[in-house]
Amino acid sequence: MNSREDLEAWRVAFLGRRGEVTLLKRSISGVRPDERRAFGRAANAAALAIEAAFSDRRAAIDSPAADVSGAMDVTLPGWPTQVGSIHPVTATMREICTAFASMGFEIVEGPEVELDHYNFEMLNIPKHHPARDSFNTLWINSSDPNGDRPLLLRTHTSPMQVRTMETQAPPVRVVVPGKVYRYEATDATHEWHFTQVEGLAVDRGITFGDLKGTLYEFARRLFGENVRARFRCDYFPFVEPGAEMAIAWTPRRGQGDDAEDWIEILGAGMVHPNVLAGVGYDPAVYTGFAFGIGVERIAMLRHGIDDIRLFYANDIRFLRQFS
Ligand code: FA5
Repeated sequence: MNSREDLEAWRVAFLGRRGEVTLLKRSISGVRPDERRAFGRAANAAALAIEAAFSDRRAAIDSPAADVSGAMDVTLPGWPTQVGSIHPVTATMREICTAFASMGFEIVEGPEVELDHYNFEMLNIPKHHPARDSFNTLWINSSDPNGDRPLLLRTHTSPMQVRTMETQAPPVRVVVPGKVYRYEATDATHEWHFTQVEGLAVDRGITFGDLKGTLYEFARRLFGENVRARFRCDYFPFVEPGAEMAIAWTPRRGQGDDAEDWIEILGAGMVHPNVLAGVGYDPAVYTGFAFGIGVERIAMLRHGIDDIRLFYANDIRFLRQFS
């Protein structure tokens, strides 16, 4: 039945004043007294079922997608559907990986629940090393099921340097995107969980010049030719020498303050000989560089966002701007 008129005629045939169900209900006086209750129930149920079928069909006929002949009009616009979008941090992480992939780096991933062994020990940070304090660690309340080694939420993606070198011989060139966790207070540039992209290149004859050249090229690809980047000395036990790279930005632009500042985007350095020796690479033959990029900081720079906490506040008005 495809027209309102036909449908109404159908309804009246059952439920109208002389409709079949109406007449049936009126005939109850002719039914045996002990059967009247069941008879009445059945008649009412039939009336309700007919009403429901009528309403459903009526809604279908009235819907904008139905035309008078009952066929679907494919030229009508569809019902609006909420379409999500890629989170700005994920999008930035992908851009970073794409930049390094085009420079010959392979993309690999590793576990977020990590062994102390890989997060610290193999990175030249033994127990009681003061550098452990700078990685405010969230420990897991049980240990490695195959042994008795403490577990934690990885504080950086650097453990994947070791895991990668353990499973392959040089030359190595990988980037490792992933989440990391630190038990620390949040502010405009610090979250307690954030995203890093680790990088590692090991081969014969790799120098600090290769490290700087690669990272400058990365900065140009993400921020354009005119980017201003700065290297300063930094200390990480798993590199020697160590450095940090910062990018010039204007955090309060748009608030009447164009003062420039630097934001640190990554830690880096030449892989420490102890780390190379730990995985069985001969440090007299091989050298390499490594870096760990803070992805949220890059996304802040790219989009002019002055507070990192906006990324994870789940405010749909903020996130919609990136769809
Ligand atoms: C590290 O995590 C080292 N693993 C980096 C590294 C890798 C050094 C390889 C040498 C060789 P750091 O703690 O500085 O270093 O963190 C690296 C980057 O992550 C920082 O430059 C910053 O961009 C970002 N970052 C650090 N802490 C936070 C935080 N709480 N919230 C958001 N981003 C952070």
